Order: sequence, then C-alpha cells, then structure tokens
Amino acid sequence: MTTLLINTRVKQGHIAPEIQGQFSEHLGRGIYEGIFVREDSGIPNVRGMRTDVVDALKEIHVPLLRWPGGCFADEYHWMDGIGPRENRKKMINTNWGGVTEDNSFGTHEFFDLCEQLGCKTYVNGNLGSGTVQEMHDWVEYITFDGVSPMADLRRRNGREKPWKLDWFAVGNESWGCGGNMRPSYYGDLYRQYQSFLRQYNPDSPFKKLAVGANVDDAEWTKAVLATCFDHAQRQFHGFMDGLSLHYYTIIGDDWRVKGGALNFDEAMWYKTMQSTLHMEDLIRMHGAIMDQYDPEKKIAMCVDEWGAWYDVEPGTNPGFLYQQNTMRDALIAGINLNIFNKHCDRVGMACIAQTINVLQSMLLTEGGQCVKTPTYWVFDLYKDHQDAELLDSCLSDVPRLSIDTAALSGKIDDGTGAAARSSVEDGFLKAERFTLPAVQESVSEKNGVITITLTNLDLENACPLDIVFSGSASLSDRTVTGEIVHGTMTAHNTFEEPDCVTKQAFQDIQKTDSGLSLRIPACSVLKITVQ
Ligand code: AHR
Repeated sequence: MTTLLINTRVKQGHIAPEIQGQFSEHLGRGIYEGIFVREDSGIPNVRGMRTDVVDALKEIHVPLLRWPGGCFADEYHWMDGIGPRENRKKMINTNWGGVTEDNSFGTHEFFDLCEQLGCKTYVNGNLGSGTVQEMHDWVEYITFDGVSPMADLRRRNGREKPWKLDWFAVGNESWGCGGNMRPSYYGDLYRQYQSFLRQYNPDSPFKKLAVGANVDDAEWTKAVLATCFDHAQRQFHGFMDGLSLHYYTIIGDDWRVKGGALNFDEAMWYKTMQSTLHMEDLIRMHGAIMDQYDPEKKIAMCVDEWGAWYDVEPGTNPGFLYQQNTMRDALIAGINLNIFNKHCDRVGMACIAQTINVLQSMLLTEGGQCVKTPTYWVFDLYKDHQDAELLDSCLSDVPRLSIDTAALSGKIDDGTGAAARSSVEDGFLKAERFTLPAVQESVSEKNGVITITLTNLDLENACPLDIVFSGSASLSDRTVTGEIVHGTMTAHNTFEEPDCVTKQAFQDIQKTDSGLSLRIPACSVLKITVQ
C-alpha cells in the first residue's frame, strides 16, 4: 500500500511565494494581445491591461512577474519604451519572428501591470547589447526618489514616485542568445555590471540575479561562482542574491521537432514525465555545487524559465511559440511545483514560461475571449503553498511504472490529414525501457492549515493511498476537503469548450485512526486541505 507519512512537527523550510512566479516576454502574442490591448480597445481594460486577464491572474495570486525577456531582454533598450507612445522608437524583434516591436509596452506599463496584479517585479537587464551606463540608468529611473537625471525623466513621463523593484537580472542566457559568453567572462561582466546597480533604498533593496546554467551545465555554475563568489563573500550584501537555472520539458532527440501539444501518444506522455522529473536531478546537482560556496544557502536558485516546449500549433507563426495545453501540462506543472517546494531551502524563485499565449501558458486569448488552461488550474490548487512552511513528508511503496516506448507508441493523428504516425515508428522517440514513480507529493502548513498536493502520472491506474500523520492530534475534529484537476491525457480547453478541464471538488477521502485514506485518480493533480 502506498503511504504518505507526514511529520507535522518537522518544518523543512519556508516556501517562497516567488516559486510560483510567471514570465512574460515580448514574444508572439504574450504581451501584445495577451495582456496589453491599449486603452482604446473594445476589450475591457484598465490603462490598456485586459481586465479578464488581470482578474484571472489575480485569482491564482501571481506572486512575481519577470519581464521583458528572455532572449528579447538582451536586445531591449529601455529608453525606447518610455515617453509618449507615438514617439517611441520601433525595433525588429529579431529573436521572435522578426516582427516590429513598437515599444508601446515599456517600463511604465510593466510596473502598472504589476501594481494591478499586486505582484513582485522582476526586471531582466540587457547585458548582451547594452552598456553599464544603460543598466545603471534603468535602475535609477525605476527606484530613485531624489533629484537626478533619471528620476527627473521619470517624473516628466508622469510617474512621481519610484516603483518597487524586487529582482533585477544581469543578462539572460548569456551562454546562448544573451551573448554566447564563456562562464568566466560572464562572471567578470557580472562583477562589473552589478557594481553600478545602486541600492537607492537600502531599507528595501532589490535582489540581484546572475545568469546560471542551461540544463546540466555544471561547468557554468562552477565557473560563475568561482569567478564571483570570493568577491561576493566580501561584499555579500547586495552582490548576488540569486543564480538562475533554465530547464524546459522537451522530448525527442532533435530539438527542431518537439512534437505537438495535442497530438501525442502514451509513449510521448511518459517521456514527457521522465523529462519533467529530471528537474529534481538538476536542482540537486547545481545545488550541490552552490553548497560548496554557499553552504548557508543565502543565494537562491531561481528556475526562472521552466515548462513544456512543443511544436507550435499548426498554422501559427513559428516565431510566436503558441501551443495548446492539456492534462499533460497539468501534470508537468504539478510535478515541478512539488519539486520546487521540496527544495525550498535552495529554490527561492521560479518562473513558468510563459504566462499567456506563449509556451506553457496559464491563459490563451483570441480576440476578446480568454481561456484558462489546465496549467492555470494547477496553479490555482497550489497557491495555498505560497508563504507556507514545508512539512517533512515521505512516500513509501509508490508503484513504479515500467515503460516500454515501443509498446506504448500509438498512432497520432496530427489533424492535418497526413497519414497517422506513431512516435517510435516515426523515429521521433527511441525504442527504450525505463521506470517511473507514479506519484509525487509535497506538503506544507500555514496558519494551522495543512496543504497536501499529489500528482498521479499513471494514465491507467488510480493509486490507493494512506496518509499517516505523526506529530499531531487526531483529525477527528478537523475538516478535510479535496480539489482535483483531472481528465484524459489530451483533455484541454478551447474557446468553444472552455471548461473541459477545471478544478473540481474531490470528496472521496476517508478519515482513519492514523490519518486519511483515498485513491488518487489516474492522470490527476489533487490537493487535500486539512483545516
Ligand atoms: O521562453 C522562450 C525563450 O527560451 C527565452 O526567450 C529564452 O531565454 C529561452 O531560450
């Protein structure tokens, strides 16, 4: 029998709300159309920000928003995005479809959006093609309250008081689109640029973030820390508060062909789950390197890009990264958020890519319509973990699924009328065997309320589960409720049928002498609340 043992006396760390952060880049229909429609749009808005989108994001308590990129950040010159909109310089968005970026969404609009959402702000600076002066000036423009060239310019542009800046990153993916740098070179540049990012408000300093590794690039982590850390120790306060990690769930051996968001077989499902579970290996591996320098874990690992990356929806601009979102994405979200919770002693922030209409989104929009994705509903379930204390918990006797991709590879109808193909026969996946644990979990407590989140990635079988509490009095006088996101593996929401996958009440939970007993349905993300 699978058992979840929860020791309510042992708290293992604080779950930073920022672990459930979001990322919105100037990419495709993420910001333009997705969030910002301008004041004169027929779509209801507040100063250009879609009301439906802002309301939906407030519901899931978005704790932090990262902007303006991504790769876009390293070609973004912030001064082009301030002042009267009609005078703003236009540019080519070279990373994402070569479209014209008119800079109508800039610094003022970003901070307005975050104020409407009530979330923390994370600005990603331009290291790749920007100067030290430019980066310095941006921070002065955003945060300085006194008399200075940048603060005065901000006032002339209509904002008297500085904004609250919470995180600032020195570059993005500097090992790739952000400049193809070597790590020691990046480390030196980080030392230089961060020196000029002044803390004008010492009582509420912003946090500085260095570019960390791509996937499993341990050499990058080692070399950046080796270049920066001695110095960081000497000037610890305000030198480096975070080191990023980027890891996407991608399957297939050829990165140019990732498989469709809707058209996948069971072999692809389980490969996706295997790829998602790899996040934990990466956190452990990079975390062990960080521990050598920073055993007190003062520097947060910030997984500021994660999520599923598939082929774009047929007929959409390949540079816009628009993809649908199914129960597969719900599981990806639930598994990753459980992993981040379990490593909350090191993981201090994470941003799913990307909030609306891009990659693994919370919301999809089409004109005035807005659809909540299965991923959105998982974030809705997990929001109770924000700011909670992680409880010691451990699963035993979890079913291990034996996966044989050749046997599970079925026919995929990609909807284009082309002959149905199967992922292995087609050479998209290798024929291979591996095993996977069916169930993952994390447990937290806040104000006496215990939140348990569980994922069952098994497509066929429900998992009977006993939950045993140690360290707390009987549950007899406590209220236990459940909420679930579940469906078939390709279940998803469309503009025609927006409520195929939503959260639902889950009532099939029995109290026992030692805790609870239930069956976690196949292909589901479940939250249990003990009040
Ligand atoms: O999220 C899409 C892109 O993925 C980002 O711009 C980049 O940082 C990463 O490679």
